[in-house]
Amino acid sequence: MEKFVIQGNTRLTGEVEISGAKNAAVAILPATLLIDGITTLENVPNISDVKIICDILTSLGANVEWTNYHTLVIDSRNLTCTHASLEMTSKFRASYYLLGSLLGRCKDVEVGLPGGCNLGARPIDQHIKGFEALGAEVNYEQGKINARAKELIGNSIYFDVVSVGATINLILASVLAKGTTILDNVAKEPHIVDVANFLTTCGADIMGAGTDTIKINGVDKLTGNHTYSIVPDQIETGTFMVAALASKGDILIKNCIYEHMDCLSAKILEMGGKIENLGDSIRVYCDGDINSTNIKTLPYPGFPTDLQPQIGVALSIANGTSIINESIWESRFQYTNELNKMGAKITAQGKTAIFEGVKNLKGSPLYATDLRAGAALIIAAIIADGTSELYNIHYIDRGYENIEDKFRKLGARIERIK
Ligand code: EPU
Repeated sequence: MEKFVIQGNTRLTGEVEISGAKNAAVAILPATLLIDGITTLENVPNISDVKIICDILTSLGANVEWTNYHTLVIDSRNLTCTHASLEMTSKFRASYYLLGSLLGRCKDVEVGLPGGCNLGARPIDQHIKGFEALGAEVNYEQGKINARAKELIGNSIYFDVVSVGATINLILASVLAKGTTILDNVAKEPHIVDVANFLTTCGADIMGAGTDTIKINGVDKLTGNHTYSIVPDQIETGTFMVAALASKGDILIKNCIYEHMDCLSAKILEMGGKIENLGDSIRVYCDGDINSTNIKTLPYPGFPTDLQPQIGVALSIANGTSIINESIWESRFQYTNELNKMGAKITAQGKTAIFEGVKNLKGSPLYATDLRAGAALIIAAIIADGTSELYNIHYIDRGYENIEDKFRKLGARIERIK
């Protein structure tokens, strides 16, 4: 078991380089199974979720090779299996993308029921409704789900909830289907657009990604021999933007997309931070007090739930009272118990949390309850008085590449202890 030991009272300053997006990578890697050829992916985040999915692709007969720290070459010409190891796939949430990609390519798939961070109920009914609308028969058995079809035929699918996973999964399942699929009430996150761009590069016919409606004309085949670079991580960018604000520091965040950060930028400005758009870099700094504000998480372009715990740290030391309303996940306030151990005054009930700002946080033993909570607690420990020990850091390694090195370069005193 590893832990981080973090000495606090640090104002973060300097430069940080953003990695490729985790939530794009964990979808694009399964998408390579749709391609009868070789794909080169650049700007791949070197994180544990990506390593798990590489192992799964290998177990299905794909040849997966890291040619440098951020580049993967995947040869999916000779798939040997459509039933993924239940043990491997049930380890993490995004294994559900194998359903869409293997159903699309082979018309037959079986995976373990998706695991992942504990954020409350995580149904996949909209994915299943979509696969069935394309003509698949979907069955659940103990701990696993399988789907098969004689052929997949395009259809119109209206999603009852806006779902990142269902949107991507139905894109994956329909790019090789016969005829036209229209997906309505879809998610619009930057990683949706990235998956569609990747597939389009390989010959798919997809229109409207990034809007409420996506139209897919099925094609016979997706071709290989393409190189695609994964979009910068919106959530990692936001994590460092909030770290600059909360530590009253000054950070130049490089290799990121300013336009993806509109909602967070608006909140940081309201809270007294300052932001400069420098093309593919963003400078965020704060030289005064942090103001309270209210936040409601929403699908993109609303405030991302995946940045809610991080901004919660800044609100815990703001002047005055703030309210966060979490509208996506039912259990995303577990980090507030940890912040309260540090002296924060947060009352969380159901999907609402009230933050009464305090002057300082104090170092404490801390437990990451999920990936983004873990990132938030690193920020909390960096700004607190005294030393904190942060446990359960395997959650953080799922989605942040070398996070302690990145924070250390900004002046944080953080050590990984085995
Ligand atoms: N939902 C349903 N039925 C479905 C699918 C979703 O009711 O069939 C509900 C969920 O319960 C939730 C809401 O719809 O209330 C949104 O869920 P969504 O499907 O969008 O989430 P997801 O695809 O499971 C992805 C990210 C999450 C991120 C959410 C929301 C990946 C691998 N995961 O999850 O990322 O919080 O979208 O933006 O892309 C993270 O990176 O830390 C993380 C948890």
